[in-house]
Amino acid sequence: MKLAVAGKGGVGKTTLAAWIGDYLARCGRETWLVDADTALSLGSALGLPPESIPPPLVLDESLIRERVGNGFINLSPEVSDLPERLRVCLGNLNLLVMGSVAGAGGGCACEANALLKALLVHLLLERSQCLIVDLEAGVEHLGRGTVAAVDGLIIVAEPSWRSLAVAAQIAGMAADLGLVRQALVLNRAPEGTLLPDIPGLPPLATSIPLLSSLSERQLASPCVLHLSQRDIVDRGCRAILNAMTDQAASDGWCAPQSQPLR
Ligand SMILES: Nc1ncnc2c1ncn2[C@@H]1O[C@H](COP(=O)(O)OP(=O)(O)O)[C@@H](O)[C@H]1O
Ligand SMILES: [Mg+2]
Repeated sequence: MKLAVAGKGGVGKTTLAAWIGDYLARCGRETWLVDADTALSLGSALGLPPESIPPPLVLDESLIRERVGNGFINLSPEVSDLPERLRVCLGNLNLLVMGSVAGAGGGCACEANALLKALLVHLLLERSQCLIVDLEAGVEHLGRGTVAAVDGLIIVAEPSWRSLAVAAQIAGMAADLGLVRQALVLNRAPEGTLLPDIPGLPPLATSIPLLSSLSERQLASPCVLHLSQRDIVDRGCRAILNAMTDQAASDGWCAPQSQPLR
């Protein structure tokens, strides 16, 4: 199961990516979490101390030069060794800090983009593990070839018109790229929230309430795991994976049904 998480800034994409990755890992599935955002907050959301979060691949100029070249760009660089070389391994959960495909800055933006895309395509097409990609905002930077290998797109929104309008916009762009398997997650939603009639919204997979256990911790720690309200989070993760699985039944993928052990 390979999923990408998109949505307007601040809606909870990184938080949800961490939750789903952690859930799958606790269900015994080898899972890779890819931080493809400029903000690079997935590592800290998992509770990693700053010193154990590697710098993003997008800033590793010598590796980029080594694989992609300098000036003459090799569009199919060798990347198969990179996931294991660059990951942070947390049991079943692996974190890969790539940085933003869109925001690859500095002197070698094209080279950096070529390497990021090649690595994403490798993870999507040639690896069988679960993969969750935390995106910048939308999917437009992924490109048609990359997006075709994503099983499903999770679009996160808050219960606000603007956030849902962005969700609908992202859904439309993703569908244009061929990514039609989509699920909407309404985050920080009061119980019983009704969706406004905004054309183009994907089907709602689940609503997740504002979690007091997370809000209370915010000032003290960026970690979003090990919450006292983890049962609510796990229920949400199951609903999302089931929504994707219903749509993905033909792939033979089956969402973990059982309650995780710990
Ligand atoms: N359901 C929730 N309840 C309480 N706090 C939440 C919830 N979802 C997200 N947050 C908090 O909201 C903030 C923004 O979330 P984040 O995942 O970083 O958003 P994004 O990646 O979309 O920019 C974080 O501090 C996160 O811990
Ligand atoms: Mg984020």
